[in-house]
Amino acid sequence: MADKLWQGRFSEKTAHIVERFTASIQVDRRLYVYDIQGSIAHCKMLAKVAVITDEEAEAIIRGLEIIRQEIDENRLDFTDSLEDIHMHIESRLIEIAGPVAQKLHTARSRNDQVALDTRMYLRDETARLIQRLYRLQKVITALARQHLNTVLPGYTHMQRAQPVLLSHHLMAYYEMFLRDIGRLQDCLKRINVMPLGSAALAGTTFPIDRTFTAGLLGFESISANSIDAVSDRDFIIEFLAAAALCMVHFSRLSEELILWSTAEFSFIELPDSFATGSSIMPQKKNPDVPELIRGKTATAIGNLTTLLTLMKSLPLAYNRDMQEDKAPLFDTVDTLTACIEICTAMLPKIKFKKATMHQAACAGYLNATDLADYLAIRGVAFREAHRLAGEAVGFALAGKKELHELSLEQLQSICPLIQDDIFSFLTTGEMIDRRTSYGGTAAKRVAQAIATAEKWIDDPKEHLSDS
Ligand code: ARG
Repeated sequence: MADKLWQGRFSEKTAHIVERFTASIQVDRRLYVYDIQGSIAHCKMLAKVAVITDEEAEAIIRGLEIIRQEIDENRLDFTDSLEDIHMHIESRLIEIAGPVAQKLHTARSRNDQVALDTRMYLRDETARLIQRLYRLQKVITALARQHLNTVLPGYTHMQRAQPVLLSHHLMAYYEMFLRDIGRLQDCLKRINVMPLGSAALAGTTFPIDRTFTAGLLGFESISANSIDAVSDRDFIIEFLAAAALCMVHFSRLSEELILWSTAEFSFIELPDSFATGSSIMPQKKNPDVPELIRGKTATAIGNLTTLLTLMKSLPLAYNRDMQEDKAPLFDTVDTLTACIEICTAMLPKIKFKKATMHQAACAGYLNATDLADYLAIRGVAFREAHRLAGEAVGFALAGKKELHELSLEQLQSICPLIQDDIFSFLTTGEMIDRRTSYGGTAAKRVAQAIATAEKWIDDPKEHLSDS
C-alpha cells in the first residue's frame, strides 16, 4: 500500500487500530457519484482560471470517469487505510492518471469537499422524497374520493365524539404530508448552497471562480463565509427534523391502522400480503408493517437528536466529530423512503368495513352536540342547551337507549321546544351534512377539498424534479 496522501509530516505509520477506528469508507462510499461529479467541476474550474492546463484537466476527468465506472461495477476495493471515499478516489486517480492527478486537490480541502458531497447527495434525496410524497398524496386523495359516503365516529380523548366522513379523516393525513412536502422544499433552499472553494476553513490563495463551479453543479448560490461553510451542518439537522416529523405522521397513521384492525374496533382489514402470522398462535394476523413504521419513527427521532447533540458545543470550524453525521443521515433517508413506499403500496389494499364503522358512529350519543345545536337554533342559549342535552343523555342512558330512540314526549319533557323534526336532525347523515363550515366534514366540503388536492397534485409547477 502506498503512503497516505497526508503522510509527509509523519515519521511513523498509522496504527491499524487507529485506521479502523477513524475510517468512514464503509459509510461514505455512498457519496462516490457526488464526489466524482464535484471533482470534475472543480477540475474544469481550475482549468478555466488557468491553475492547470486544459490537457491536465482532460487527463484528470478521464481518470475520474474510469473510477466512476469501476465503483459502479463494484471493481474498486475499499480499505480502511484510505479512510474515506475522497481519499480512495484521489489515490486511485493518481494510480490511473499519474502525477498530474496530484493537481486536483489544488485550492480544495476534504473539509469543503465533504460538505459539497453531502449537500449534493441530500439535494437529490430530498427531491426524490418529495416526489414519493406526491405519489402517496395521490393514493390518499383517491382513497378519500372512494369513501366520500363512508361514515365513522370521529374521536377525541379516544372516546367517540362526532360522526365524520372517512374521506375527511383521510384528508387530514393529506394535510400533514402537504406540510411535510413544504418543509422539505424549504430545506432544499438551504441545502442548495455550494461550499466548495472554502478550502480547509479560510478560503484559498488561488484565483478560483466559485460561481463557475456552482453553475456546473447546479447550485443556486455559493456560501458567503468559508468558516461557516465547512462547519455548517444545519442543512442536515433541518432535513432530519422535517423527516422526523414526517415519520411522526406515518406513526400516527400506523397507530390508527393498528387500532382499527383489532377485533375491538374491527374498522379495517389489512391485506394478507401486508400482514404476518404468529409462529405459535395460528389464528393471528399481525399488523407488523404499521408496527414497524411506528417503531422506525423512534430511529428517525433519534437520528435528529444525534445530529443536534453532535453539533452542540462544537467549536468552529471543521472537527472530525462531524464525520459521524453521515450514518444517521443515510439511515433517516432510507427509513423515510421505505416508509413512504410501503404506505403508498398498502393503503389502497386496506379493506374498510363500512357497516361496522357506520354502526359505531350511530351509537354512543354522538348526536348530543346536535341536540344542543337544535335547541340553540331555537333560541336557547348554548350553555343552557348543552345542559339540557346532557340531561337528555342521562335520561337515555338510564333507559339504555340512544337519544334518537327516545319518544317525542320524553324529549319534550326535557325541553318543550323539541318538535318532530328532531329525529331526522339527529341522524348521522344529516349531522355530517350540516357541518358545512370551511374545513368541516360535510360531503360537499370534503369533495371540494379533494378537488383542490387533485388539482394541486396534477400541477407540474408544484413538482420540483422527476426521479
Ligand atoms: N471523512 C471526513 C468526514 O466525513 C472527511 C473530512 C476529513 N477532513 C479532515 N480534515 N480529516 O468528515
